[in-house]
Amino acid sequence: MKMWSGRFRQPLDSAFEQWQRSLDFDRRLLRYELAASAAHARALKDAGILSADELTRLFQGLEQIDEQATHFPQFLSGGDAEDVHHFVEKQLVGLIGDLGFKLHSGRSRNEQIATDLRLYVRATIDQLRQEIGDFCAAIVDRADEARDVAMPAYTHLQKAEPVVVAHWLLAYVEMFLRDADRLADCRKRLNLCPLGSGAVAGATLPLDRESMAKNLAFDGPTANSMDATSDRDFAIEFASGLSLLAMHLSRWAEEMILFASQEYGFLGLPETYSTGSSAMPQKKNPDLLELVRGKSGRILGNATALMVTLKGLPLAYNKDLQETQQPVFDSSDALLQMLPIVTGWMKSVEFHQERMKQAAQTGFMNAWAGATYLVRRGVPSRLSHERVGKAVQLCLERGCELQDLPLPDLKNISPEFEQDFYEAITLASVLAIHDVPGGTAPDRVRKAVNATRKRVDSLREEVHAHA
Ligand code: ARG
Repeated sequence: MKMWSGRFRQPLDSAFEQWQRSLDFDRRLLRYELAASAAHARALKDAGILSADELTRLFQGLEQIDEQATHFPQFLSGGDAEDVHHFVEKQLVGLIGDLGFKLHSGRSRNEQIATDLRLYVRATIDQLRQEIGDFCAAIVDRADEARDVAMPAYTHLQKAEPVVVAHWLLAYVEMFLRDADRLADCRKRLNLCPLGSGAVAGATLPLDRESMAKNLAFDGPTANSMDATSDRDFAIEFASGLSLLAMHLSRWAEEMILFASQEYGFLGLPETYSTGSSAMPQKKNPDLLELVRGKSGRILGNATALMVTLKGLPLAYNKDLQETQQPVFDSSDALLQMLPIVTGWMKSVEFHQERMKQAAQTGFMNAWAGATYLVRRGVPSRLSHERVGKAVQLCLERGCELQDLPLPDLKNISPEFEQDFYEAITLASVLAIHDVPGGTAPDRVRKAVNATRKRVDSLREEVHAHA
């Protein structure tokens, strides 16, 4: 039986009927639909619409549907239900007879889908934060293990100053921890229950909204029924949070691709996560990283799609809202699949420490330290900069590094240069310059690794507490 055939004289055009159905994608909301239905049934019993016995039979029916779906996934395909809400109703009626129809008393699919989707996003946030925590933990482990190995840091993609590898890796952890935080923030705001909002103007029966909300572990009921049935801000915030996460993963992937190229040679791609070329026998390609970068485009597209879908909608429910589900599912699936894979990659990538160290010692990355040396000897900063620049110029002509210039040549440029200049511009000295509070000298970074690990651990513990 249709959910709304009473006032119609003609059957639906069959192509249209088929086309407007959403069961193909909203069936993945089944467990949330069943949970929300159970909460509604309890409220119906408290409102005197269902007897205790009817409530028990309804619960049994809902449980049987859950069991069938768990054991026989094909149970959800086929059939002629319009959407997951209709599907549950039809199954219930099949199992417990006309009592199944009573479940819909005083409620509307508009509040149901709003509730189911919130529950789905909430559960997915918990899973994603778990995966982000695992990824961050893998990065921190690699940072810890890389200890004091140095590499170049770049600005404008030109060698700038040496840093320790751990400091570079921790930069990524910061991005991903912010992503986890943003999702937690989205979770906080979405955790209100639309049940009892009806189709648009609220429930027609005295349903206890507080207890329905509590039942589903929401913080309370939503405040306005028109807003609650047409609001998808939570989906947009979620999809936008995911597009930031995907953007960070894409930047990460881009840099790993670059550093794994022969020209940089900082990283060795793990064979277990790389692919070959069907044409060129020598190739080992970073397909994994390229797909991470590529998928970020689609994930950003999903967030944009949601925004555009919502922007012209008058209050309250419009069927357009059915189109907000797939972008949410698509972005969630993409990241839930991607995160464990990048975690595996991170655990197995090789750091070519010698090559990184070599790169950290060439290209005049000690020039700033050289200028600082002059500043310490009373030369005004602007002039120090100018004079070390002259020294670099001389090196460029001779094809050497600052430490290769003989002292007389240096003194020609600035008489303040002394023998101890050479000690002041070794890699170790250059790294040590940053031994200031919050600085990036090796000892400071080691402390930062430990502090970051604590934050990652507390994210992981917090997520466990939710699950
Ligand atoms: N399948 C619909 C959706 O996802 C459920 C709500 C239908 N409500 C309605 N008034 N037709 O949005």
